[in-house]
Amino acid sequence: METQVRTMGDLRKVLPSNAKFDSKAIAYVMHRDMSNLPSLKDANCRYDITIIPAWSVAGQFAKTHGHYHVGQHGEACAVLSGKALFVLQRYEDIQHIDRADYMTIEAEMGEGAVIEAGYGNVRYGHVTVNVGSSPLVLANIVSNGCEPQYHSYSGLGGAAVFIPTWSTKKPNYAFATRAIKVNKRYASVKMLREVDSQLNDQILEDSASLSALVRVCGGLLEAYNQYPDRFRYLFEDSEVMDATRPDR
Ligand SMILES: [Fe+2]
Repeated sequence: METQVRTMGDLRKVLPSNAKFDSKAIAYVMHRDMSNLPSLKDANCRYDITIIPAWSVAGQFAKTHGHYHVGQHGEACAVLSGKALFVLQRYEDIQHIDRADYMTIEAEMGEGAVIEAGYGNVRYGHVTVNVGSSPLVLANIVSNGCEPQYHSYSGLGGAAVFIPTWSTKKPNYAFATRAIKVNKRYASVKMLREVDSQLNDQILEDSASLSALVRVCGGLLEAYNQYPDRFRYLFEDSEVMDATRPDR
C-alpha cells in the first residue's frame, strides 16, 4: 500500500495560468494497492482508492491531473461516493497529441466507468472531475504494467476540454456536458461520438455493464473477485484483449 498526495501546485500546468490557489493545498489523495486479493495479485493488477475533495479553481471543478496510459492497458473505475464526470480522450498519432477526440461518462455512487485500452497507435487518457459538492471517492482496478504518462496533459495545459463550474448550480450532468469548454491549446478537439460512434457506444455499454456488475456484486473489488474473466480484456495486451473480449 502506498499513499500519494497531489497538491494544487502539482496541478499548476493543467490549470489556467492566471488561476489563484494555495500551492500546498491538497488537490486529491491516492491510496494505491489497497487489496491483497489473490486473483488481483495473480493478474498483476492493483486496487486503488482516490479521494478528490470538492474544490473549485479558476471556474473549474476539482479534477485529477490527467494521464494517458502507456501501452495497451485499460482501467475499471467505480464511484464509492460523490458525483464524477470522467473525461476520456484519445490521440491516434503520437506526433500529434494535440489532436484529440473526447467523450464524457457520468457516474454516481455505485456506478462505474471503463477507460478503454489503447490499440495500434491509439492511446487513451482520462481526467476525473468532481462535479458534486462533496468529496468524490473512487475505486479503480488497473494493471501494474499500466504506466501513467502525465506530460501530454501538462504540456497542453490539461485535458482537451474543461467543465466550468457555472454549468452546474445544481449538479446536472446534461447541463455540465453541454457547457464543456474546449482547450484552445489543442489543434483539434472532436467528440468521440462524431468520430467513432460505434466505439463510443461500446465504451458506454461497457461502463453500464460494469455498473451492473458492481451493483450486483456489491462493489468493484467484489465484482472482480467473482468475475475476473470479465475484466481481463482491460488489463492485458491487445492480442489477449481481442481474444478474450466477449463482445468484440
Ligand atoms: Fe488511468
